[in-house]
Amino acid sequence: MPANKRLLILPGDGIGPEVMGEVRRVIDWMEKRRAATFDVKEGLVGGAAYDVHGTPITDETMAQAMEADAVLLGAVGGPKWDDLPFADKPERGLLRLRKDMDLFANLRPAVVFDALADASTLKEEVIRGLDIMIVRELTGGIYFGEPRGIEDLPDGTRRAVNTQVYTTPEIQRVARVAFELAGKRGNRVCSVEKANVMESGVLWREEVQKVHDTEFAGVELSHMYADNCAMQLVRNPKQFDVIVTDNLFGDMLSDTAAMLTGSLGMLPSASLGAVDGSGRRLALYEPVHGTAPDIAGKGLANPLATLLSFAMCLRYSFDMDEDADLIETAARKVLDGGLRTADIMQPGKARVSTSVMGEAITGEMDKLAG
Ligand code: IPM
Ligand code: MG
Repeated sequence: MPANKRLLILPGDGIGPEVMGEVRRVIDWMEKRRAATFDVKEGLVGGAAYDVHGTPITDETMAQAMEADAVLLGAVGGPKWDDLPFADKPERGLLRLRKDMDLFANLRPAVVFDALADASTLKEEVIRGLDIMIVRELTGGIYFGEPRGIEDLPDGTRRAVNTQVYTTPEIQRVARVAFELAGKRGNRVCSVEKANVMESGVLWREEVQKVHDTEFAGVELSHMYADNCAMQLVRNPKQFDVIVTDNLFGDMLSDTAAMLTGSLGMLPSASLGAVDGSGRRLALYEPVHGTAPDIAGKGLANPLATLLSFAMCLRYSFDMDEDADLIETAARKVLDGGLRTADIMQPGKARVSTSVMGEAITGEMDKLAG
């Protein structure tokens, strides 16, 4: 029996608990059908944590996250908490996890499943077969830069400041992750910034180029301005293999990339820290979609992004490639078979609930595992 894998599950708000329920189903399946055992703890994050503890994440939950081999997160936020002061907002829980765990590399693959090639708002030939990876810097840039804040000015007006800031090590370490990933895929990296208007973009471009020239000369590197990248993503997304970019541009470009796949409900992500001396790497896995408060609690949410995030967890944190493949293949088969949650519903297909989709996935896994 392999050692227990320590998982911390933080379902969060909105549809988070529903979609995470389907991950539980897959974990149960794995414990029954594979030799995998997980030591699963569950905690509160976001508005759910605020309602109970008055903070979007407690120090205890943070400590559990640091101890876990992997954290699985649903989603945070919602209208109920919109008027809270900044420091109490649900999103701060997620941002603290990312920052305190130093999860600097956020991997957001955008893959178009064949069965959904006509579900995108873009023409089918533009997106069929798409398989790109956005590597977003996650612990720096304008999300965390100082100074920040809103101040009252003597004339009665107000002034707000955020700071975009990057250091060479911050750029270099995320660039390395992108080059390493590219080496296992299409061997191409496109680095994205706004060096035409921002000094942080100039440094970004120079440092990525340096890492390339000294360590990864065998990988093809190009540079692109972020506005152009947004346009190219909807014009001809298949030109990209791996995109590496900063925190804010990565946030925006990954939402764009998500819609190429038909729905935000399809996009998983992995947020990884550095590998330490003992080979351990902190990691958090979450769907790219938000809490979708309008459909929360109705059984309408698409669990696939969260299930595919769990597959990434098996792959990147536990070296369980075969099991990750199993989940991904099951998702493909279920879609091929015509099941659809509301967000990806198409004419002639069968519209199913969150839990029926989850059941269908473990049903396929049963068949695949024989
Ligand atoms: C994301 C989200 C978060 C972000 C929010 C919820 C803080 O949009 O993960 O893309 O802006 O990073
Ligand atoms: Mg976002």
